[in-house]
Amino acid sequence: MMNTKVHELLNQQINKEFYSAYLYLDFSNYFKAKGLDGFANWYMIQAQEERDHAMLFYQYLQNENQIVSLDAIAKPDKVFACHMDVLRAGLEHEEYVTSLINDIYAAAYDVKDFRTMQFLDWFVKEQGEEETNANDMITKMELFGSDPKSLYMLNQELAARVYTAPSLVL
Ligand code: FEO
Repeated sequence: MMNTKVHELLNQQINKEFYSAYLYLDFSNYFKAKGLDGFANWYMIQAQEERDHAMLFYQYLQNENQIVSLDAIAKPDKVFACHMDVLRAGLEHEEYVTSLINDIYAAAYDVKDFRTMQFLDWFVKEQGEEETNANDMITKMELFGSDPKSLYMLNQELAARVYTAPSLVL
């Protein structure tokens, strides 16, 4: 039987990941309105990945015969004064999600729930990549964001991002 705290945290993470998808849809919406379709595409794909993450937690709990309880998804309510604000909010959010994954891992570790730890290993690695991507976006915007031609090129680069399904299969 799964530990109550581990179960609760895993269940909460479904909601957190769907919120992440919602947040990135909001980012995509921001950039679409600014005419930066490449950035909008990048965050649309990011939102798709977050939905995948939510479904992995959902599927894991169901596979473990645990009850899944779905909660309301919070409204993304950040107001952005500039493009860089969005990118910084992205990094801040990913650092927060990393802390949530670490908290679940610690709870699983405390009760020797090795199966959950093994499931979470993929997310530990994924969060490293998510933070790197968010940092890279900030660096590129710092370097190229103030020059219209460079911003155009960066937008083109981000337009090329394509969705790939998660490598973790349950
Ligand atoms: Fe699901 Fe961006 O972490």
